[in-house]
Amino acid sequence: MKSIFFDYTPESSRVTVSDIEKITTKLLPELHQIKNAVGSGYKNEYASLNLSSNSQMIDHVKNLVAKKKKDLNICVLVVIGIGGSSLGAVAVHESINGVLYNELSSEMKIYFVDTIDTDYVRTVLLLVEREFKNGGGVLLNVVTKSGTTTETIVNFEIFLELLKKYKQKSYADHIVITSDRDSKLWNYAQNEKIETLEIPKNVGGRFSVFSPVGLFPLGLVGVDIDQLCSGALSVVDSCTEKDLKKNYAAESAAFVYAQYKKGFSIHDTFIFSRDMRAVGDWYRQLVGESLGKKVDRSGNVVNVGITPTVSVGTNDLHSVVQLYLGGPRDKLTTFITLKDDQDELRVPQFDEFDSLVANIQGKTVASIRAAVVRGVQRAYHADERPFVTIEIPEKSAFCLGQLLQMKMIEVMYLGYLLGVNPFDQPQVELYKKETREILAAQ
Ligand code: PA5
Repeated sequence: MKSIFFDYTPESSRVTVSDIEKITTKLLPELHQIKNAVGSGYKNEYASLNLSSNSQMIDHVKNLVAKKKKDLNICVLVVIGIGGSSLGAVAVHESINGVLYNELSSEMKIYFVDTIDTDYVRTVLLLVEREFKNGGGVLLNVVTKSGTTTETIVNFEIFLELLKKYKQKSYADHIVITSDRDSKLWNYAQNEKIETLEIPKNVGGRFSVFSPVGLFPLGLVGVDIDQLCSGALSVVDSCTEKDLKKNYAAESAAFVYAQYKKGFSIHDTFIFSRDMRAVGDWYRQLVGESLGKKVDRSGNVVNVGITPTVSVGTNDLHSVVQLYLGGPRDKLTTFITLKDDQDELRVPQFDEFDSLVANIQGKTVASIRAAVVRGVQRAYHADERPFVTIEIPEKSAFCLGQLLQMKMIEVMYLGYLLGVNPFDQPQVELYKKETREILAAQ
């Protein structure tokens, strides 16, 4: 099976081997904790590491995917959820199926409804109503761990109203709710006889992509969820390796932490694949919510955090690279590149264009992109801008599983190095409370 490759060199990362070793040695107690948690179920905050090996849960999701597909002849899947209840599924879906999937799909379209936004929500409503009028099957997957997130409940109610208009008696069959057992929404679903999928209590939102949160919608749009989970499982083993040279998550965390300590607090994920942009968005949330903390594990005010940014090649070479190569020395970069892009899409052999851009006639787009990646990395290297590279052999479910799982473990290691709890998000709760108060006063 093809595997992702973490390419770290002291020259490009600007961190010495001995510094990496010192930091990774510091990580040993955490590595031990994580290793102990693997295989021990959903008992503690590392529970997410045991999702990809839970064959019973994976089979349950697969059976429900098959049942809903058969019973409803689904033409449109609407996934209603926000943050960790949406970003992982978007990342995997778009990476594998492509951002233009809905334009090409002859079977099932998918819409992610996360934000509160009249224009966007109205457009999706129109598209879904069109399917109803054409007699197509519609499925709503409402995903919320807490069951009480304002955005998600607002959007659910709006789509439920539409569903009830066209499926007065059978609307409950067209909904699947993914939530914590016994959340208020879970209990509502039980009363309404709506199918439910459970998120284990100790699996937090941004760590939940390999739970039914991600697996159910991904299974519906044809992602091989067995392969996704096998990929994840394969790195759970390697990223808890004591031999730190094989442990990409620990090496990556050490690189980020070493640079952070030198004052580089912005971490750019620079992805050379348009379809994989959402992986950057998913990672941005993972880092933002897990590591941006007011207090450390002992309750001291520390106000730490690494600011995650996302860039996409080659577009952003014409946007922010001037800043990255000319601006302040406060950024480190992880390039994500595709290794063997075998697509034969070629620039035609129009010799008259040679005077416009030389040496591109007859070449594949993939080979030109590879040349650009090398060029960018040489420029970063020459200007001493620190970077590492994660090479993805192919945009397969297996490799996506590896990449996302490796990044989740990397963030756990970074949480340990920064001395913070990567599993909570107390400051997010602050805005939720304020909003509830304003709504109550309206
Ligand atoms: O990662 C997290 O915990 C958050 O981003 C949540 O996923 C987000 O706030 C949505 O919460 P819920 O799933 O409870 O609706």
